[in-house]
Amino acid sequence: MKSYMMQGAKIISTGSAIPFAKVTNEQMSSIVETSDEWIFTRTGIKERRLLTESGKSISDLAIDASIKAIDDISMDPATIDLIILATSSPDDLFGSASKIQDKIGAINAVAFDLTAACSGFVIGLITASQFIFTGTYKNILVVGADALSKWVDWSDRSTCILFGDAAGAVIVQSCNSVFNSILNFHLSTAGNYSDYLSISYEENLQPHPTLNLCQGSFKYISMNGKEVYKFAVSQVPLSITKCLSDINLSTEDVDWLLLHQANERILMAVAEKLCISKDKIISNLSKYGNTSAASIPLALHEAVQSNKIYRNDILVIAGFGAGLTWGTVVMRW
Ligand code: ACO
Repeated sequence: MKSYMMQGAKIISTGSAIPFAKVTNEQMSSIVETSDEWIFTRTGIKERRLLTESGKSISDLAIDASIKAIDDISMDPATIDLIILATSSPDDLFGSASKIQDKIGAINAVAFDLTAACSGFVIGLITASQFIFTGTYKNILVVGADALSKWVDWSDRSTCILFGDAAGAVIVQSCNSVFNSILNFHLSTAGNYSDYLSISYEENLQPHPTLNLCQGSFKYISMNGKEVYKFAVSQVPLSITKCLSDINLSTEDVDWLLLHQANERILMAVAEKLCISKDKIISNLSKYGNTSAASIPLALHEAVQSNKIYRNDILVIAGFGAGLTWGTVVMRW
């Protein structure tokens, strides 16, 4: 991280929202040929929440999570300067962040979407911190929200058992640089592996009769699970180690490891490679599955609510996923 910091940045509030409908592994086994035993031992997932309520969209979850974060500190939404919505499943391809701006009454905020799948929240948090470090903005709402249930093939047992729907939000505020809590970050992309995880757009074969133009639609999630697993377990520890060592910290200094909640085995393998005790892993994926961009802020909110994280704790957050993209943030809470 280059040091051009005029202001420090810190997370001052968190919020989350989950859909009402809970689907257990047993229930999944009535949809595809699978079992609780297979899913739990391979992934650590027991159940997930799905956005089944009629008329409810991912924007509604994102709005609920944002309102919780705002209300928790009795913040005036008119003081929010920027809203970043990290999502790969917006209900409007032109962006859904502006809906949040409207519904929470953030009348002075600019709002945009950011697409980076499961790394979206980390990249959103880093983007927010840059606006704060330069003194451009003071209060930024970063939301991670996804409803990948809308994009999985519910007859494909290798993917549909993994995902759940949720939203998580944080408010990042500027502070004196002495109190800065975003100590370092490291982001990477390997576009040559983009085929490992995608929701691709496919054109219909029939072109428009006069324009010769083809239109199409997005298909289902396609994933090479083994390659994604190998990528996460090899690259995420390297990213974390680099991010820590650049600021003269070691894995022994880490109090909490908060990884994208993709798979319990990935969480364990990354912690093991870093020699970080499994007691320091924040994990809630047994209850929610992989909620993509929402997974980190959702787990962070739960950890904060249960008073797990103390002031000055060193928290390492790492996201990874489609792109392929991955990244780490080291924070002093
Ligand atoms: N239930 C029962 N059997 C299953 C299921 C299921 N739900 N899914 C697959 N199988 C079968 C396969 O058909 C295969 O059977 P076969 O040997 O007869 O061919 C067998 O189980 C093994 O399948 P694999 O795909 O080899 O299973 P693997 O041990 O690799 O586990 C898993 C699959 C859990 C997906 C693993 O690869 C993984 O976790 N990868 C990481 C994926 C991930 O984290 N993705 C999200 C990234 S974040 C983002 O950006 C969205």
